[in-house]
Amino acid sequence: MSLPPGFIDELRSRLSIGQVVGRKVMWDSRKSNPGKGDLWSPCPFHQEKTASFHVDDQKGFYYCFGCHAKGDAFKFVQETENVSFMEAVQILANEAGMPMPERDPRAQEKADHRSVLAEVMEQAVQWYKMQLRSAGAAAARDYLAGRGFDAAALERWEIGFAPDLRQGVFQALTGKGVPAEHVVEAGLAARPDDGGQPFDRFRGRIIFPIRDARGRAIALGGRAMDPNARAKYLNSPETPLFDKGRSLYNHKPAREAAGKGATLIVSEGYMDTIALVEAGFRSTVAPLGTAITEGQLALMWRMSPEPVIALDGDKAGLRAAMRLIDLALPLLEAGKSLRFALMPEGLDPDDLIKAQGPAAMQAVIDGALPLVQLLWRRETEGKVFDSPERKAALDKVLRDAIKVIPDPSLRAHYGQEIKDLRWALFNPRKPTGGARTPWRKGGPAPYGQAAQVTTSSKSSVFAAGPDGIEDYLREAVILAVLITHPGHIAEFEHQVELMECRDPGHGMLRDAVLRHAGANDLRVAISEQLGAAPLEKLFGQRHVAIVPAIRRPGETDAARMCLVEELAKLNARRGHAREVQEAIEDIHHAEDERLTHRLSDGVAALDKAGRGDGEDRTEYETSHNGAKLRRDERSAFDDLLGGIEFAKKDRRAK
Ligand code: UTP
Ligand code: MN
Repeated sequence: MSLPPGFIDELRSRLSIGQVVGRKVMWDSRKSNPGKGDLWSPCPFHQEKTASFHVDDQKGFYYCFGCHAKGDAFKFVQETENVSFMEAVQILANEAGMPMPERDPRAQEKADHRSVLAEVMEQAVQWYKMQLRSAGAAAARDYLAGRGFDAAALERWEIGFAPDLRQGVFQALTGKGVPAEHVVEAGLAARPDDGGQPFDRFRGRIIFPIRDARGRAIALGGRAMDPNARAKYLNSPETPLFDKGRSLYNHKPAREAAGKGATLIVSEGYMDTIALVEAGFRSTVAPLGTAITEGQLALMWRMSPEPVIALDGDKAGLRAAMRLIDLALPLLEAGKSLRFALMPEGLDPDDLIKAQGPAAMQAVIDGALPLVQLLWRRETEGKVFDSPERKAALDKVLRDAIKVIPDPSLRAHYGQEIKDLRWALFNPRKPTGGARTPWRKGGPAPYGQAAQVTTSSKSSVFAAGPDGIEDYLREAVILAVLITHPGHIAEFEHQVELMECRDPGHGMLRDAVLRHAGANDLRVAISEQLGAAPLEKLFGQRHVAIVPAIRRPGETDAARMCLVEELAKLNARRGHAREVQEAIEDIHHAEDERLTHRLSDGVAALDKAGRGDGEDRTEYETSHNGAKLRRDERSAFDDLLGGIEFAKKDRRAK
C-alpha cells in the first residue's frame, strides 16, 4: 500500500529517535548530552564494551562509528525487530498515536484532495500578490513601506493584498476553472447561510501566506488596513489543509535555519516573525492566531531542544507565557525545554527591533529565563510570605506544579532549583546588592550566595555557639526519630527536604534518609551508603538517647508528635533567626532607628520560639489522635534545651 503524502514526515516529526533507540540500549551518561539530543551507547548491532553508537535526536539519525550501522527510527525498528518497513511504520505510528492510513480506506483520496486544495491555495497566493501591485493597492503599499518592507522583503514573505471586493478571489479562481466548492473548502470564500453566492473571506486586508513544513500553501493571515475593522488579523478557518494547532508561521525556513544552529525563537505573530527574521533571527516561528498548542510545542522541539519564547511585553503576553508553562510542564523531558525572553514593557519584538535595533533584541534573547524561573516568578511575584501558612501554600503550589513532570530525574532537578530559589527568597543577603529578586537579569546567582552561607556554618557543635547547639540538637532528634520510625517519613518528607541542616553531617544523613525512605531496613541502607559511623555518632549522643520515641520504637504516636513539634520549632527559630540576621545587615547599611526596634523585636521572637513555652506544650499534651503523652516522658529533651536557654540569657545579660 502507499502511504498518503506527508504521513511519514508527520510521524517522523512526532517521534523521538532517542526514545525509540533508548528502549534497546543503555545510554552512556558521561558521553551523552541529552539536552542537545546527543546520545551515545554501546552499539546494539555489534559486540562492544565502549560507546561508539551515536544517536542524533534532533536530526533523527543513528550511526555506529564501530560497525557503521546507520539509519533513522524506521530503519532502527526494522533492524532490531526484524520487520518490514511498513510494519515498522505501523509500530511507530501506534506509539505516536497516529492512526494508520490503512484503517482509513479513503486516506489516499483525502490526501489527493488536500493536494488539490493546496494547489487552489497556491493560485490564490499568487493572485493576492498580483493585487498588491495594482493601482487599488497604493495605500497598502504605503502602509507596508511605512512598516519597513522593501521590495525584497515583500517578495520573501510573498505579501499580498485582498481588495475590498465581494467576489475578488472567488471570481479570479472560478474564472480559471477552479470549482466554487474548492474555493470554499480552502477557506478562501464563505457561503452565506441563505445559500447564496460565496463571498471572499479576506477583504481590504494585507495577506500573509502560511506554508507548511514542506512549503505547501495551506492558509492565509490577513491584516486589516482599516484601523476600525472588527478584527485586526483574520486567519483562514480550519480546513482539510489547515490544522491551526499543528501549524507554525515560517515553519520550513525556521527549521532549516535551526538545523544550521540558529536559536529557535517563538514570537506572537506575523509581523514579529518577519521583523525578527529580517533582523537576522532567521529561525523564528509564530502560532497562528491561537495560544501555543501541544502540537506546536512538539513541532518546535523537533527543531530545537530549547526554543526561546518571545512574547509581547504586555499583560496578555505574560499571561500567554504563564499558560504555556502549564501546558509544557507535563511534556518536559531531557532535551525538551523552554526559555522565556521577557520583552521590555509594552514592546513586541517588532517594536523593539525598530526602536533599538537587533542588538537590543539579541540582549533580550540572551537574557531569556529558564522555565523554572518563570514558574517561580509566577508564584512569588507581588506576594508576601510573612507567615508559615503562606510559605506552606507556596510550597504546595510549586510542588503540585512540578509533580506533573514525568521524568523523575528532571523533576528532581526542578525541585532542587526551586529549593535554591526559595532559599534565596527567604534568606536575602543584602550587602552584595539585593538577591531578593532572584530572577533579576544579570543579578548575582542567588544560590551561589546560599551555598556560601551553608559552607560557612561550622560542623562543630560548640563552634556554632548556643543558637547553633540548639539547632544541632533538634536536627539530631528529628533525624534519629525518622530513622527509628521510617513509617513517618512520607508524611514529613517535604518538611525534612526543606530542613536546612546546620551540621553538614546531618545534611548527609537527611539526604540518605530521604533517599532510602522505602528501604526494607533504613539503618542498613544508610550504613551501606555512608558507613556505620554517622549513625553511631547520631544515636550515641545523650540528648538523642533520652528521647522516649527513640528509646522505644513502639511509640509511633509519640514519634509523630515529636516530629511535628521539633520541625515546627526548628523552622520557627530559623525564620526568626533570619529576620534578626536581616535586620543586622540592614543596620550596617542604614542608621535607622526603626531597624533597631526591629532587631530587638526579632530577638524577643526568637527567644519565644526557642523556649517551647506554654502554647505549644498544651497542644502537645492534648494530642490530636488520643495518644496518651505524659509530660515528664518528653520533658528530658526540653529540660536540656532549657538549660541552653539559660546559658544564652546569662551571656546576653553580661
Ligand atoms: P498582535 O495584536 O500582537 O499584533 O497580535 P502584531 O503582531 O503586533 O501586529 P501589528 O504589529 O499590529 O501589525 C499577534 C498575533 O495574534 C493574532 C495574529 O496572528 C497576530 O499576528 N491575532 C491578533 C489574530 O489572530 N487576530 C487579531 O485580531 C489580533
Ligand atoms: Mn506589533
